[in-house]
Amino acid sequence: MNNRICDILNIKSPVISGGMVWCSGWELASAVSNEGGLGLVGAGSMTPDVLREHIKKCKLATNKTFGVNIPLMNPNSSKQIDIVIEEKVPVVFTSAGNPATYTQKLIDNGVKVVHVVANEKFALKAQEAGVSAIVCEGFEAGGHNGKEETTTMVLINQLVGKLNIPIIAAGGIAKGEQILVMMVLGAEGVQIGSLFAASKESSAHINFKQAIVDATEGDTMLFLRKLSPTRLLKGGFYQKIQEAEQKGASKEELLEIIGVGKTRIGMFEGNVEEGELEIGQVSSLINEIMSIEDIFTKLRKEYSEALVRMQSINKSI
Ligand SMILES: Cc1cc2nc3c(=O)[nH]c(=O)nc-3n(C[C@H](O)[C@H](O)[C@H](O)COP(=O)(O)O)c2cc1C
Repeated sequence: MNNRICDILNIKSPVISGGMVWCSGWELASAVSNEGGLGLVGAGSMTPDVLREHIKKCKLATNKTFGVNIPLMNPNSSKQIDIVIEEKVPVVFTSAGNPATYTQKLIDNGVKVVHVVANEKFALKAQEAGVSAIVCEGFEAGGHNGKEETTTMVLINQLVGKLNIPIIAAGGIAKGEQILVMMVLGAEGVQIGSLFAASKESSAHINFKQAIVDATEGDTMLFLRKLSPTRLLKGGFYQKIQEAEQKGASKEELLEIIGVGKTRIGMFEGNVEEGELEIGQVSSLINEIMSIEDIFTKLRKEYSEALVRMQSINKSI
């Protein structure tokens, strides 16, 4: 497929595996890149040393382009930026922070920068900061979300035509026909998280992967609206926070209940009752733990079947 995202990122297929704490290590990133998409190593849950190790392993596992996702709120982000420059990683997806902080430094060192946003204001800011493309993530997405709660469908439509740089759609995508819909809306690529979190190559604990597969409609919810809206799978941790929120807990009280290391406990160590389980609404469409190769085959089949179905859709409304 030829489009601006494929050209900028030097990839064949404009399908990106989003950076995901505790899920997207070198195995997932290299498998996605080997399929022709763009695999991202998720630095959010890695110390600088661990990140370097994953980059080195990823280089051995693929000769295709891969990148690193760096959430800028992470206290290690400055060191992580230096590591990707030293290791000559070609692409960085920044998120959760000000895109102006490191974009120019990365560009000066030959790194392409893409930034993740959840609303129009930050999309325009990211474009101004000089990034090459923008991930526009709707609130169906797993993990941290925008306060506006804009859906992917609305966000993409809102931004196409307002940005000169290409848009990558994220949030609520797990099937080939949904990729086609995003392309019809004007996105030039998609970033997928939840589907890949449940893949064989994801470094998440098997209990978390199984919980994703078992999830049905309504099993994820956006919560922590006061602190930082986050979409989670319901469970013990979710319930505790929910009860505290209903009793009108302050930000400080909520922070104390959340404590530290809850995403590690849930997603990496597999304690699905006590841990924090970030996952998207789309988990209700994920029914099997599959390999990345099989996921790409399925996405491609669904995409081309949807293209054929388009031929028989009414020509006017
Ligand atoms: C388990 C999990 C962890 C995530 N961690 C991060 C992260 O560290 N950095 C980031 O920018 N986005 C993170 N995300 C968001 C994904 O990169 C991606 O944009 C999102 O999952 C897309 O929506 P989907 O889940 O509906 O596919 C995470 C998502 C999930 C499901």
